[in-house]
Amino acid sequence: MLNFQTHSIFICQSMLNPSSTQAHDIYALFRSFHIAAFGMLALIIFLSFYISIKYRKKKNDESIPKQTTGNKTLEVFMIGIPTLLLIYFFYQSFITMKAVEPAVAEDSAPDIIITGHQFWWDANYNNTKVVTANEIHLPAGKKILLELRAADVIHSFWVPALGNKMDMIPGKPNFIYLNIDKPGTYAGLCSEFCGAEHAWMRMDIVAQNEVDYAKWIAENETGAHAPAGNLATEGSTIFQTSTCASCHRIRGTNALGVIGPDLTHFDSRKKMLAGMMTIDSMNIYRWISAPQKVKPGSKMPDFIFNKDSLQALTAYLLQLK
Ligand code: CUA
Repeated sequence: MLNFQTHSIFICQSMLNPSSTQAHDIYALFRSFHIAAFGMLALIIFLSFYISIKYRKKKNDESIPKQTTGNKTLEVFMIGIPTLLLIYFFYQSFITMKAVEPAVAEDSAPDIIITGHQFWWDANYNNTKVVTANEIHLPAGKKILLELRAADVIHSFWVPALGNKMDMIPGKPNFIYLNIDKPGTYAGLCSEFCGAEHAWMRMDIVAQNEVDYAKWIAENETGAHAPAGNLATEGSTIFQTSTCASCHRIRGTNALGVIGPDLTHFDSRKKMLAGMMTIDSMNIYRWISAPQKVKPGSKMPDFIFNKDSLQALTAYLLQLK
């Protein structure tokens, strides 16, 4: 059995801490709906108790209380208030949907294209060379357009603190706008069952101010650092000459695959395997020695690398800052 530490790396996911313009709109609707619903519930509970107590059967009193029918005023209220509430919430929902999900033309130029894969996220930054996976950096305080795609089956993009869910459908791009309030890390997840490892399809959105974001883009536009030391150099050679390179890309090397996550700056990220574990030498070693034991059902096949090769590959991956 392979053990790994996961609990400490979770970030709270809650739509009750809205952190974008879109999430504030959704939260406002959620709140007013709940106030009305709880008000209604409280009224019904109160009336139930009040009537039960007031008209309860009293000792030695077999008489039936006075029966009233056809109270017009009461009926107008009973039908009128729910109808007005329905109209009000229909209108509010409509306004919120229009604000959160405005129509976007299919040929719009997005800032970032995010693609759902079984079971990880790929982020492609338009007009730059930056490609990353699972830890997606976004600028805060600015309106951005994300294009959401799927590479294989239907996935769904959801970052509770940042707004609505949006399905990712093969062959049909969807879009969402985001205006993130402030820098911070926001946890997201796939919210459409997409296969065995659906539960381990998480992501972290790292929102940054303009300066930090520009710095991150500049750092990530560069190719991978050349390996330092014999072990990492050997790892780099193994990576480029084995099947690793047919699925993974490490910019600046001969590894040009696009099936799996881009690993150019792999070790600049905090977690691996779409949020499953932190990046450290032990986790990398375990993963590449038995992928199907660590994340059964993922696209990464089991290889037969010897111990030396595994150590060399681990050393190399840890240098991909
Ligand atoms: Cu992807 Cu669930």
